[in-house]
Amino acid sequence: MRMSTATIIANTDIRAGVHLIELHAPYLVQAAQPGQYGMVRCCDALASDPLLRRPFFIHTVQRAREQCTLLVAARGRGSSWLVKQPPGADLDILGPIGHGWEVRPNVRNLLLISAGETIGALTFLAQWAIEQELAVTLLVQYATIEDIYPPALLSPEIEYHVTLSDSGSDKIVEVAGNYLAWADAVCCAVSHETLETLYSRYERLRQKHIAQGLVVRPLVCASGVCLTCAMETRSGPKLICRDGPVFEIGEIV
Ligand code: FES
Repeated sequence: MRMSTATIIANTDIRAGVHLIELHAPYLVQAAQPGQYGMVRCCDALASDPLLRRPFFIHTVQRAREQCTLLVAARGRGSSWLVKQPPGADLDILGPIGHGWEVRPNVRNLLLISAGETIGALTFLAQWAIEQELAVTLLVQYATIEDIYPPALLSPEIEYHVTLSDSGSDKIVEVAGNYLAWADAVCCAVSHETLETLYSRYERLRQKHIAQGLVVRPLVCASGVCLTCAMETRSGPKLICRDGPVFEIGEIV
């Protein structure tokens, strides 16, 4: 992990409040692994507010072109500043950081499960898996049709299955059950409640080395210093920023 400069190549509004930011980022691109993130300084060069960097998952990578993308939803001051940055602007990024997704060499069928914007933590993994000639199914639950991630941004080889649930119910849990016999590995970027439901409902997810889960929380330093992201796991206390954000599912539910 180190600090590097990335230059914005394009900034596209893919739906209301959500932008795809394309970067020329030679260091970040060469070092990044699926599930890792970068801490982006989200203010003008001479400003210091907001003081804290914001974490963004590396959304896709084009290593030959030294380019990557970030999927940014304008939710607070930092992300709202970021989505306004024009092509040509430089970003100061610390990263890549964290323990990302692990896919064992014998995996052929990869099931990815997400809800809403956490899809941004899975897209690089999906891209990598297709490049390795794995079969990939991506299940995503959204609250409304307007929220749906554009299928055109995904490789056509990915089976993209969308469920809608505006009532807060976890339809995704039911749908996931249809794919578990097929999947050799399952990567979940869902809420902790949904993760617990999946884990308790399906024996397959309780088998060793089958399923991993993402933990998303605000990160202050992402350097293992402030300890505000400490979390109790079945193998003792862990830091989400450095030991995660991806863990074996059995460690965290
Ligand atoms: S965010 Fe500071 S130790 Fe993890």
